[in-house]
Amino acid sequence: MNFVCTSCGKRETASSLAPRCPCGGLWKLDFTPPPFDPALFDGSARGVFRYRAFLPLEGGAWRSVTLGEGATPIARVGGALFKLDFLMPTLSFKDRGAAVLAARMKELGVARAVQDSSGNAGNSVAAYCARAGIACEIFVPEGTSPGKIDMIRAHGATCILVPGDRDRCAEVCRARVENEGLFYASHVYNPYFYEGTKTYVYEIYEQLGGMPEALVLPLGNGTLLLGAMLGLEHLLASGRISDMPRILAVQSANCAPILEARRLGLSAPAPVKPLPTLAEGIAIGKPARGTEILGYIRKHNVEVIPAPEDGIAAARDALAREGIFVEYTSAATYAAYLDYVNQRGPIGECLLPATGAGLKGAH
Ligand SMILES: Cc1ncc(COP(=O)(O)O)c(C=O)c1O
Ligand SMILES: [Zn+2]
Repeated sequence: MNFVCTSCGKRETASSLAPRCPCGGLWKLDFTPPPFDPALFDGSARGVFRYRAFLPLEGGAWRSVTLGEGATPIARVGGALFKLDFLMPTLSFKDRGAAVLAARMKELGVARAVQDSSGNAGNSVAAYCARAGIACEIFVPEGTSPGKIDMIRAHGATCILVPGDRDRCAEVCRARVENEGLFYASHVYNPYFYEGTKTYVYEIYEQLGGMPEALVLPLGNGTLLLGAMLGLEHLLASGRISDMPRILAVQSANCAPILEARRLGLSAPAPVKPLPTLAEGIAIGKPARGTEILGYIRKHNVEVIPAPEDGIAAARDALAREGIFVEYTSAATYAAYLDYVNQRGPIGECLLPATGAGLKGAH
């Protein structure tokens, strides 16, 4: 298996521990799974690893790492469907990616790692590194929800609070990776993470017997969006779906480099000055895979829509009144959907992810 640089095309073995290409570009995995076929599902595994025939793992390291993450229910709320992806061991969808990444790290014999996160991915990586016996340090921006910080520490990881915003936190962590040659267990840089998040799409396909007309996805660093693209393109190439569903990608109106790039016709994220937002998980001013994301957006006519800041709290309350208590970042996706439907009219059967639990993100 090989990594390919998304910037210069250089190839490197996928067992390389280098966080990115010497040119600075991020790796993509050159991996074509076998055609999607229910006959290949692993009936002995639950959730993410049920689909392991389509994952780029070698050997059985995943068995001692998995906690049965995934296999989340789909519930109807009003006119939309919600996949309750916060029903995971660490209470966010990031467990899909972290379980696969940690299994891969175990295969590679990684003993120590660092990562930066707005909180949820840090929770996931801390938990699964603990499972895999890997020591880790997680960098989070100062002001991250205390529940997330406590949880990172509870898993035995060191949690470092970095003054400034999420982008600065990433810069500080990446400088440590470069200077000390540490393994970067990044949900943004490491391609194995997206192999985990792609199972979101496989599960929807299996649960609904196909794809709904539309998917609404959050868009910060794009870990769910890029994973969903891998999964959907796989279903398409396997002849399981004949068209891509309509996709709406949600950015915070207060931090929208991809939305702005679309508006200006740019192929890289637009420079923006992030304003404060309740949606801490998608407040990414400089998404490292922004150019790649914009490539998929053009290729599949993804619409990028804003989450109005003044609608987020109300959207969270509305979901809670339906029994679904999510964090503000997750509610932002619903707020954007409601705003869009309000302005443009109904968009058919539409599925949204409930990505993170409300109790963790109490501001
Ligand atoms: C609760 C929640 N929802 C959504 C996201 C969106 O992340 P991404 O764009 O990386 O998929 C995050 C990221 O941290 C999150 O914590
Ligand atoms: Zn390169």
